[in-house]
Amino acid sequence: MRIETLAVHAGHLPDPSTGAVTTPIHLSTTFEREPDGGYRGGHVYGRTSNPNRTSLEEALAALENGEVALAYASGSAATMAVFQALSPGDHVIAPDDAYYGTLRQLREIFAGWGLEADVADMTDLDAVKRLLRPTTKIVWVETPSNPLVRVVDIDGLAKLAHSVGARCVVDNTWATPVLQLPLAIGADIVMHSTTKFLGGHSDLLGGALVAKKNDEFVERLSLMQKVGGAIPSPFDCWLLMRGIRTLPWRMRAHCENAGVVARYLETHPAIERVHYPGLESHSGHAIARRQMNDFGGMMAIQLVGGEAAALELTRRLNLFTRATSLGGTESLIEHRASVEGPTTMSPVNLLRISVGLEHPEDLIDDLHQALDAILNL
Ligand SMILES: Cc1ncc(COP(=O)(O)O)c(C=O)c1O
Repeated sequence: MRIETLAVHAGHLPDPSTGAVTTPIHLSTTFEREPDGGYRGGHVYGRTSNPNRTSLEEALAALENGEVALAYASGSAATMAVFQALSPGDHVIAPDDAYYGTLRQLREIFAGWGLEADVADMTDLDAVKRLLRPTTKIVWVETPSNPLVRVVDIDGLAKLAHSVGARCVVDNTWATPVLQLPLAIGADIVMHSTTKFLGGHSDLLGGALVAKKNDEFVERLSLMQKVGGAIPSPFDCWLLMRGIRTLPWRMRAHCENAGVVARYLETHPAIERVHYPGLESHSGHAIARRQMNDFGGMMAIQLVGGEAAALELTRRLNLFTRATSLGGTESLIEHRASVEGPTTMSPVNLLRISVGLEHPEDLIDDLHQALDAILNL
């Protein structure tokens, strides 16, 4: 089945007890035990499973082409579960420009628990190869990356990981399964912040892991979920299922709008550089063409006038809200360097843009008035 159909149907069935076509939200934290000791619907207690979470996990596995999916309370909780499933002395390689929360976990939480980590510019496969060790257990990949919008070769990185018996985990938050299927091109596990495009409306927090094979590592990940307890609420699972139903169509519009906006921005004299994988000027354009169906709704821009111009632009825009996060219906703009602090990889003149579902000409009009004003300052 194609992804538009999966997005509408996977994990959805009319409610068996009422016939309700839209799945009810099951808030009960506990489920009745039968006289024979069994459980009618297979659910015992809300931390270990819940009908809304089970539906969501079925949908996520189907969308990413995996055998099994596990839903967590946030993208960060899903990332934590992967690192928690490792042992002291194990080694992780991550991108030097990974989502800064992922790098903070490695530096500020897991280093203290004996997990060893190196970072690399993953556009350079040789640099990653030089870091591989017999103890390397995870090669963590994020493509396109947050906030530098780098695109890296999933297949090449997965092969490197497998050469030392490590797993390749891909943070697929920015691309979503609509644009990129990492499990089909070598990766072992896909991670999502479902808070972003999958949810799609900036009104829920969630995370997920989807595994190609339901193996012993997935058992560890499941232990972290069910015994660790960083699970999403039934309401958040329900909202996410609703968001997923329109994901393929929303992604088309995000891509179309972002392409139009990126091409406009490239021509404006106040802009030094546009980082968008759909542009031929992007260093990862060829890889993006090969491993993605389209180029996504995220971009970053660097301003000729430095940090002051970047901050001024955020103040002069009317349709782009100054806010963190991404992937919602509304366009957002953010100065990542001031959010991430001293360890940031983000240049001070860089702004990250999440292009929403407004009409692209309205977005361009807004950018145009703000950029022209900056040039005339
Ligand atoms: C690429 C990426 N991965 C992971 C996360 C963390 O997700 P969450 O905020 O849901 O914990 C984010 C959040 O911005 C992200 O952009």
